[in-house]
Amino acid sequence: MNNKAVVITGASSGLGVEFAKQFAGRNFDLVLTARSENKLNELARELEGKHGINVHIVPLDLSRSGSAKKLYEAVKALEVTAEILINNAGFGLFGEFEDTEMQKELDMIEVNITALTELTKYFGKDMVARKSGKILNVASTAAFQPGPLMAVYYATKAYVLSLSEALANEWNDSGVKVAALCPGATETGFSNTAELGQSKLFQSGVMQADEVVAQAVKSLLETNKTVIVPGFKNKMLANSIRFMPRKMVTSVVRKVQERI
Ligand SMILES: NC(=O)c1ccc[n+]([C@@H]2O[C@H](COP(=O)([O-])OP(=O)(O)OC[C@H]3O[C@@H](n4cnc5c(N)ncnc54)[C@H](OP(=O)(O)O)[C@@H]3O)[C@@H](O)[C@H]2O)c1
Repeated sequence: MNNKAVVITGASSGLGVEFAKQFAGRNFDLVLTARSENKLNELARELEGKHGINVHIVPLDLSRSGSAKKLYEAVKALEVTAEILINNAGFGLFGEFEDTEMQKELDMIEVNITALTELTKYFGKDMVARKSGKILNVASTAAFQPGPLMAVYYATKAYVLSLSEALANEWNDSGVKVAALCPGATETGFSNTAELGQSKLFQSGVMQADEVVAQAVKSLLETNKTVIVPGFKNKMLANSIRFMPRKMVTSVVRKVQERI
């Protein structure tokens, strides 16, 4: 039995399912988490049958305080080494700040920021001690600028990008790699959960989840990149806004986010 595994959060849907499939295809054992236990079970059985790997599931709600520690302890109890951590679980919420539901935004901060930070700390410390490991934090192209009408979501992703770049620097010579994945609009369950409805954001060409994940996995395993932006259009956008006044960029984002 291979006792080195990839731990993937948000593995019940979208990018998380693709991460599970593509690491399984590379013969890694997996530990999968999300709230939807049935979906995790189904995926685990499918990947074990197809690839002959070990897939463990740890159903958890990462918006609940203490869940990240439970996941870390569950992985320890399984006696597998988390060689790779994919901090992918996350969600957004569309709407004017004064109208959006505060509890949803607080839960979002718990999942997108707090749990991600805790998991990076728990697993990262072990990786540094072992002098080996990789952490991929799923941010977004939303990380590069403020996002009117999804203000909290964009701010959470700016945090994820900043944290990842700082840790990549701190752990540069430690044998531990940290990278941030910054996808643009991608076909997953994200736009439904975020209540994006007819927002223009998802009407002007989306990437497929398998394409995004293929680029992410290749970059994580084969390059030294800290910021991974999949897709030519997303790369162009991420680079071009660096030279524009920030207020102007913010107004453009608002226009792109507005409903048709
Ligand atoms: N799709 C896009 O356009 C896009 C673009 C840029 C970045 N991203 C980022 O990509 C990541 C994956 O999202 P996706 O696009 O694949 O969306 P998705 O299909 O909605 O998947 C989100 C995943 O996160 C999990 N999750 C949500 N809340 C959770 C909670 N409280 N506790 C535990 N798990 C939770 C969900 O599982 P359960 O519901 O089963 O708990 C699900 O597996 C997110 O961080 C998102 O911000 C997406």
